[in-house]
Amino acid sequence: MSDFDLEVWSCTRLAEVERALERWVTGETPVGLSHGAPAELMEAMRYAVLDGGKRLRPMLVLAAHESVGAEGANGEAALRAACAVELIHAYSLVHDDMPCMDNDVLRRGKPTVHVKFGEATALLAGDALQALAFELLTPWDGSVPAQVQARLCGRLARAAGSAGMAGGQAIDLASVGLPLDEGQLREMHELKTGALLQGSVAMGAQCGTPTEPAMAALERYGAAIGLAFQVVDDILDVISDSATLGKTAGKDADNAKPTYVSLLGLQPSRDYAQQLLRQSLVALEVSGLSDTRALRALANMVVNRAN
Ligand code: IPE
Ligand code: IPE
Ligand code: MG
Ligand code: MG
Ligand code: MG
Repeated sequence: MSDFDLEVWSCTRLAEVERALERWVTGETPVGLSHGAPAELMEAMRYAVLDGGKRLRPMLVLAAHESVGAEGANGEAALRAACAVELIHAYSLVHDDMPCMDNDVLRRGKPTVHVKFGEATALLAGDALQALAFELLTPWDGSVPAQVQARLCGRLARAAGSAGMAGGQAIDLASVGLPLDEGQLREMHELKTGALLQGSVAMGAQCGTPTEPAMAALERYGAAIGLAFQVVDDILDVISDSATLGKTAGKDADNAKPTYVSLLGLQPSRDYAQQLLRQSLVALEVSGLSDTRALRALANMVVNRAN
């Protein structure tokens, strides 16, 4: 392997994303509008987004953007896309934790949003975070070309909607207690988690001007690590503890969720995650992209992480 250091690479980018989220998730009245956000709703939104989380999806956006090169690159669009996917992710976690879904009380090492603010505010905070994601992608100041705005909004909507994250969550809820076969489980995981990770990679690339083969390779890379991410999430739910994860361990078995571990067992699930990692790296190798070091390192992190 190269001497690429993901921690060094991430450091400045994480700080930039953190600053941008802090700036964009505020109750400030947008230009031209007369009302700001109600204080409690905004507090819940900020609680859900700021101060916590690995920020993997934003890192994927920025790494994919950098991999397609500087030509036609749009750093402002990539930063907005990075924050937009994190807002969709944060909203999905708020709703995922609610009593009507997984009924979790701990997230990112803190009480979940509905525990702290009540269910109605949690529901609305999720709704508002989703809307804010699309607002970020459509600045009025000309900093992101209209065509790029449209592409990013379309891709994010697809990743988050009924044929993406929300659809996967619907399958997840409908599958409680059921013995899914491998194809059904894979589809559920590809949708509920894979779609947004794959979308993050695609959106980052779309802020530049990737060739068609590079874009196709990045889509394959994103699909492989997206699925691998949820396979590893299933594994960590079994082998890790709540302090390490910042969320309640052992919840999948308690909630009778079909997972890779319940279907295949622990070691075959680990093997499958490694197989997906290799698939993702092969996709990068044939992509024709000259510098994929950050994407490679992020793929390794997805599969070999501890939380
Ligand atoms: C957790 O995602 C939810 C899943 C999709 C499995 P992360 O593990 O990326 O959560 P944070 O953002 O680091 O809290
Ligand atoms: C959640 O999957 C996927 C989302 C879209 C939020 P999980 O229900 O397994 O996520 P955790 O384990 O609660 O983070
Ligand atoms: Mg869930
Ligand atoms: Mg959950
Ligand atoms: Mg889980």
